[in-house]
Formats: sequence, C-alpha cells, structure tokens
Amino acid sequence: MTLWSGRVDTEVAQAVWNFLRADDAELLQYDCLATRVHARRLHEGGLLSDSELADVETALDWIAVEGGTEPDDEDVHSTIERLLGTVGRKIHAGRSRNDQVAAALRLYVADACLEAVTAIRSFAVSVLARAEEEAETPMPGYTHLQRAQPITLGHHLLAWVEMLERDRDRFRFAAEAARPWPLGAGAIAGSTLDLPPPPGAQLRNSLDAVGDRDFALDYLYASAMLATHLSRVGEEIVLWCTSEFGFVRLPEEAATGSSMMPQKLNPDVAELARGKGGAAIGRLTGLLATIKGLPLAYNRDLQEDKEPVFAARRDVRTTLGALEVLVGGIEFDHERLAAACNDPLVSATDLAEAMVAEGIPFRDAHEHVAAQVRDGTFEAPESPSRRVAPGPADVHAAVAEARTRFDA
Ligand code: ARG
Repeated sequence: MTLWSGRVDTEVAQAVWNFLRADDAELLQYDCLATRVHARRLHEGGLLSDSELADVETALDWIAVEGGTEPDDEDVHSTIERLLGTVGRKIHAGRSRNDQVAAALRLYVADACLEAVTAIRSFAVSVLARAEEEAETPMPGYTHLQRAQPITLGHHLLAWVEMLERDRDRFRFAAEAARPWPLGAGAIAGSTLDLPPPPGAQLRNSLDAVGDRDFALDYLYASAMLATHLSRVGEEIVLWCTSEFGFVRLPEEAATGSSMMPQKLNPDVAELARGKGGAAIGRLTGLLATIKGLPLAYNRDLQEDKEPVFAARRDVRTTLGALEVLVGGIEFDHERLAAACNDPLVSATDLAEAMVAEGIPFRDAHEHVAAQVRDGTFEAPESPSRRVAPGPADVHAAVAEARTRFDA
C-alpha cells in the first residue's frame, strides 16, 4: 500500500510503479537516524507517548541493520513507515518525504565525506612512505612528456600527495555543506503542529531546505576532482611500467595477466583508476543538469540525486583501496631511472644557468646551449653532484611536513 493510497481508487500500473520506485536502500540507516530525531520531536511535542517513543527507537535500531525493502515500497521512507508497524502510522506527523529525504541524504553525504577523508589519508600516508624511500632516487622530470630537468622520484611522488591533500580538503568542505538540517521544512512550508525545532544547525528557508542539493553536488565535485587526480596517477603508472619507460615493476597482488598472451602482466588497476574519472565527471555534470532549471521547491526529479552519490562513494572507496595496494607494492627500477636521468640533455638548463651565474644574459646562454644541442656538441656539465632540485634533504623535510598535515 502506498503512503498516498487514500487519495486514489486504483493502483498505478506496474510499469509506472517500476519507474517511480527509488533504488535507495543504501539510505536506510541514515533515514532511521533522521526518523529518530523526528520521533523525539514528536514525543517532546506530546504526539508520541513515552512507550511509543521507546517502541519507535527499538524498532529503528532493528530496521537500520536488518530492515529490507519490498517491491511494494515506493522508497526507503515507505519501508521505514511499514516496518514501524502501528506506531508507524503516527511517525509522519509534521514531516514530509521531502524534508525526510533531504535529511537522510545529508547524513549519508556527511558520512561518505568522512569515509573519503579517511581513505585519502591512508593512501597519502602510504605514498609518503614511498616518497621517503625514494628521496634520493634521481629521475628525469618531464614536461610535454619529454625529459626536462633532473628531479628525484621522492619529489615526484610528493606531487601526488599535494593533490590528495587538496582532495581531502574538498571532502571536508562538502561534509560541512551537508551539515545543516532541513527537518521541519515539511513538504514546503513546515507544519501547523507545535513541535520543538530539531537539534543542530537549521536551514533558514523551508523552500531551499527541501529543494537544495548543493551539498550533493559539492560531494560529487570533490569525488570528480579526486577521480581526476587518481586518473593522472593511474596514467603515470601505466606509462612507467611499459617496456619503453621501464621505471616500475607491478606487484603481483595488483596486476593482471592476459587470457591469451602468456607473457603479459598488465596494469589494469592503474588503467581502471584512470578510466573511473570519466564516470565521476559524468555524475557531477549529470546532477547539475538535473537540477538546472528546476522550479522550487521539491520535484521528483531530485530522486535522481541518489544513484550518482551512491556510485561516487563506491568508486572513491574501491579506487583508493586498490591504488594503495598498487603503489605500496610497486617496485621502482633504480637503474632504469638513473639511466634516463643520465641523459645529458636533462642538464641543458643547468648549463645555461651556470653561464648566467657567471654573468651571461640568460637569452644568450639559452641560445649558446641550444646551438650546442643542435649541432651535437652539447656536453653535460662536469660535476656529477650537479644540483638536483629539490634534493633529498628537501624531500625528507617535505615528507615530514606532509605527515604533520595528515596527522600521521
Ligand atoms: N524517493 C523520493 C526522493 O528520493 C522521496 C521524496 C518523495 N516526495 C514526494 N513528494 N513524492 O526524492
């Protein structure tokens, strides 16, 4: 039976029902929490007795863990009302599914953000350990994917950590954006019942409270940025493990074989991390497009917010988890890295700068070295201990600082 069966004589057609139903069981525990808050308001307002409140709370404990949806439930809100039984007939006083779903989704997103922050920290800490190990490993830095200047592998890995740190901050921001509560807004204009305000920070305007999904977009944006960064990390690993680069060997616990070619060890984890970026960006632009042009306040279009948010949470968790294993176990080929770095041309800028230090204008020095490169007479500066910027000591210091910022 629907929550609105009193209004109609006949049930909706099966095809319509299938279309309307929300696939939102993932919200169950969050909706139970929001329902508990609402039940306490009803109790304080004299609309639920002590024993009814106790019944609701006991039932919600069970529903949050064991509750299952049924084909006749329109959405998770219907599931909860059904499973609450007799007292469930009282629970919806003073609320609507419009403020209920907004509350549940906010709780869901806040939790997903915390989970992301924790997973990012864990991955970043393992990258930091690798950066520290590789603080002294020379490698060529690339621009335009052409060898450019000498750096250390530690310095390169620290760039990944910087990206992750910004991602962590974006998820923290999204968690804050999800905090204010819409409960009490009802369908659109609150209710005539004399209920105490829900606890916590409240959204100020009841139309905005039920129509706002900025917090979900903030979450999808943070997820899309993270996915974009992990995509770049994935691409670098894909390149590095080719025979052409040969900078890394994949750990067997994070590599795949080929069903046909016996010799292959493939970087599927890195490729999938790269590929996941596409869907993550699509989820953000998809929900933006859903919300764009919607009149205030609640419209059923907003039910479409859930799938992208659920999928983003799953991808954040699984991508970071798999990459952590991959990066933790990857073996760097120091000989290949050193050989690539010993390409004398990566020191061309250093030579031009050495001339500048002796008083030659930079453009003259640049032209002089470029001419040597052109006619094949270029020789790298003698000193084998030429400055590698930033050097091992800088990497160690940067690792230590990053550890403090990640509380590690
Ligand atoms: N399942 C709906 C959603 O996710 C809940 C709100 C339905 N509200 C309504 N007035 N039909 O958005």
